Amino acid sequence: MKVAVIGGGRMGSGIAQVFLTAGAEVTVQEPEAEAARARIAKGLAIAESKAGGTRTAGVSAEEALTRLTMGPVPEDAELVVEAVPEDPKLKAEILAEAESRIAAGAVLATNTSSLSIGELSAALRRPDRFLGMHFFNPVPVQRLVELIVTGATAADVLERAKGYVALLGKTSVVVRDSPGFATSRLGVLLGLEAMRMVEEGVAAPEDIDTAMELGYNHPMGPIKLGDLVGLDVRLAIAEYLHAKLGPRFEPPRILREKVAAGELGRKTGKGFYTW
Ligand SMILES: NC(=O)c1ccc[n+]([C@@H]2O[C@H](COP(=O)([O-])OP(=O)(O)OC[C@H]3O[C@@H](n4cnc5c(N)ncnc54)[C@H](O)[C@@H]3O)[C@@H](O)[C@H]2O)c1
Repeated sequence: MKVAVIGGGRMGSGIAQVFLTAGAEVTVQEPEAEAARARIAKGLAIAESKAGGTRTAGVSAEEALTRLTMGPVPEDAELVVEAVPEDPKLKAEILAEAESRIAAGAVLATNTSSLSIGELSAALRRPDRFLGMHFFNPVPVQRLVELIVTGATAADVLERAKGYVALLGKTSVVVRDSPGFATSRLGVLLGLEAMRMVEEGVAAPEDIDTAMELGYNHPMGPIKLGDLVGLDVRLAIAEYLHAKLGPRFEPPRILREKVAAGELGRKTGKGFYTW
């Protein structure tokens, strides 16, 4: 199986790594090729040391790396996953260029975390071969891939995408193209309501998080998670969802104040928690 990944940054290198581990030949198209290769090699080595051999039996990091090529998307790729920065214009250009290289039957996917799949497909000649494959960070560890389809996505393209996710040992969910897909839409809403509860003095951040961790078995409470993701990132997504989906996503005052004060969460040492 031949897979191409465009963009070998944090997400693209993880996506390349898991396809290598699953036995695929992988080409990564990335201007900073050496840095991307090093990231993938490091990821494979870590996975190997953790698992005592990579997940798929008999595949060593060394052998997996022999199937990695840095370079342009090959014409015979059966799956292309785009993971360049979250810039709609850049993504539209990259996707159209990739589409012009690959066979008519290949599957073209984007790993966008927020852009409309329908709007991205406007740049394509074959929107029926296109869908969102939303991986989570860190890719080798996270078990979910959200598959996002438009009205134009062909049924066989979705079935093939489900097959690729299964091959990686991950679980897919299917979501119709809509702002925030399933994960961000629900996760952000919970986070915003938790912040409103802090603002209203309903409970302390620690108590809200403990309530969800022990009462609902969430691995991490919504306030702590916001601090980890970055409150500026949370605010940007909330503003986008507010514009698209209406007032229930309105960012709370306390979130705007923290971002304005530079209290962005773990990365600045202070958010709702002191880190
Ligand atoms: N970081 C996350 O937690 C996360 C989670 C899910 C989805 N995403 C999405 O994945 C995509 C990539 O995010 P990331 O965090 O890996 O970003 P990143 O900045 O780590 O990686 C982007 C890579 O693309 C490369 N690139 C830039 N221009 C390019 C071009 N013209 N051709 C090929 N490569 C090019 C960059 O050199 C860089 O290595 C974005 O759409 C983002 O929204 C990110």
